[in-house]
Amino acid sequence: MSLTTPMTRTLIGMAVGLALSAGPLTAQAQSDEDVKMGFIVKKPEQAWFINEQEAATKLGEEKGFEVVRLSGEDGQEVLSAIDNLNSQGAQGFVICPPDVRLGPAIMNRAKQYGMKVVTVDDRFLNSDGEPMEDVPHLGMSGYKIGEQVGNAIAEEMDNRGWDPDEVAALRITNYELPTAKERTDGATAALLESGFKKDNIFDAPQQNTDTSSAFSAASPVFSKRGDFEHWVIYALNEESVLGGVRASEQYGLDPDQVIGVGINGSGAAFAEFSRETPTGFYGTVAVSSTMHGRQSADNLYQWITDGEKPKANTETTGKLMTRDNWKDVREELGL
Ligand code: GLA
Repeated sequence: MSLTTPMTRTLIGMAVGLALSAGPLTAQAQSDEDVKMGFIVKKPEQAWFINEQEAATKLGEEKGFEVVRLSGEDGQEVLSAIDNLNSQGAQGFVICPPDVRLGPAIMNRAKQYGMKVVTVDDRFLNSDGEPMEDVPHLGMSGYKIGEQVGNAIAEEMDNRGWDPDEVAALRITNYELPTAKERTDGATAALLESGFKKDNIFDAPQQNTDTSSAFSAASPVFSKRGDFEHWVIYALNEESVLGGVRASEQYGLDPDQVIGVGINGSGAAFAEFSRETPTGFYGTVAVSSTMHGRQSADNLYQWITDGEKPKANTETTGKLMTRDNWKDVREELGL
């Protein structure tokens, strides 16, 4: 990670600003009756995050606490969300941050208000680029889930009788985000293990974790590698794989020339599987966003009410979902 990027400078600036403005702010009064927590997400329009927030809200209705759903698409929005929560009397928040390097600045602001913080999905990094172990985290076991993606792709290549020597991989990467790197690394390892050719893997680095940034990253790769007839596509999530699949269609590849396997198992995948004809989006490793939302909120609730700090890291697992079994897996995972 370069120390001279504009983002790093912004982060340092924010951290300094926070240190200067830190004043004696009082923590809110707490009683079991008025527990209120924020649930801040980096991509409020994505089905994965909508479901997490809804699941947390539902749990709150069951257990008698209030969840304030907020959007935090950049550092400024996150800090305003925390201010907003404080003025509403919240005792803490669950967050999937827009940039994991914002961790120290976010914790600084939360501490001023005496708020408890747990992360979900994307874990904070400290200024050395290491996970902030003191902030409890719940997220998927990235490498293992990535391996499931690689194995699913290898199996489907085999079913289609593709010669591994003649297949190219579009690997949509986001190396700024550790969970993203773990996932694509796991998928790559499983593919290589199955006999995939290393030289046939082409990178498409995306700027963000959504469909449009993946589409922009993927398009030039297809144009440059017109010599391949068969492609596999993987990324940190299904939204990004869908960007790759849309780019393959625009380039002129047919669905039977493409095997895209994502991660999440959210509404984005359900919409794709519900289309009348199959696309190059073969499957996705589904993880329960319902469980992520409920469990992270519950962990924070226990911490606020019982003073019981959640464990440092909880890793969740996934299950392959395809056009054939998606409704069953959806039900099984409570999605
Ligand atoms: C990251 C991704 C999301 C989702 C979560 C799950 O935040 O951007 O799409 O995969 O991880 O942990």
